[in-house]
Amino acid sequence: MEQKKLRIEELKAAKNAVIMAHYYVEDEVQDIADYIGDSYYLSDMATKIDADVIVLCGVMFMGESAKVLNPDKKVLLPAADADCPMAHMATVEKIREVRSQYEDVAVVCYVNSTAELKAASDVCVTSANALKIVKALPNKNIFFIPDQNLAHYIADQLPEKHFIFNDGYCHVHHTVTPEQITAAKQARPDALVLVHPECKPEVTAMADYIGSTSGIIKFATESDAKQFIVVTEMGVLHELKKRNPDKAFYVAGNMQVCPNMKKVTLDNIIDALEQEKPEVVMDAALMDAAHKPMIRMLELAR
Ligand code: 13P
Ligand code: SF4
Repeated sequence: MEQKKLRIEELKAAKNAVIMAHYYVEDEVQDIADYIGDSYYLSDMATKIDADVIVLCGVMFMGESAKVLNPDKKVLLPAADADCPMAHMATVEKIREVRSQYEDVAVVCYVNSTAELKAASDVCVTSANALKIVKALPNKNIFFIPDQNLAHYIADQLPEKHFIFNDGYCHVHHTVTPEQITAAKQARPDALVLVHPECKPEVTAMADYIGSTSGIIKFATESDAKQFIVVTEMGVLHELKKRNPDKAFYVAGNMQVCPNMKKVTLDNIIDALEQEKPEVVMDAALMDAAHKPMIRMLELAR
């Protein structure tokens, strides 16, 4: 392990590379990252990085987002087959259909989506900024893609808007049941329940706090409570325990694990740096089209 870490440091210096990682990747990958955060942090930070190479430890849509925001940099995705199923759960045809039905519609695209979907949208959002951004849009009609659960969570807080829902979902969060939360609460009655908004409405309804991965970490760190039931992908436990050694964190039901995030390893990071591939390569016109809604998100969120 130590040797692998040293090799990564050596390669980073030789290639002028930085390593960015999402909280859902394996603990040892989080530990070697220069920048670690949620999807919003990674997108925002990608615009500020001064390096020739970005190694994106996450799934394809994160690599594409980093590339769209840094067309002149080399973006490496150590696990080329790490793809998010939800990123494909909407279609450009459906966007066109909704646009033809509602003249003033804003197509709001969760960043957990392909570059093609982003390019066909008006603005991107992440779970950390979706409420703020949708609220700020002048449009009454909102077509929110691809995640139905994040859409419902935002829609419930903005009754003045009319939402058109899409049927996408994240299999890691969508499969959590209210019964699992009830059982976890019965086992730990003093624990606060922290839920990601990709969970179903009947699960978020049982939460003490709802937020993005960074939001969950911030809430638990600042809270006076000592016990928490964490209802999101288990990778966040690493940062939660690191920042809060005196607090206890429990899971609800089965461990929620994203198999695609776990495909990133120290070995494929070394391979990626040595060979400078797999590289995220995108069509120039597609990058250009996806850039606008991404930048609009960053501007509206700041
Ligand atoms: P956030 O990073 O916005 O919390 O999103 C979670 C997620 O599912 C990323 O794949
Ligand atoms: Fe996609 Fe869910 Fe995995 Fe995030 S956790 S990459 S939304 S499948």
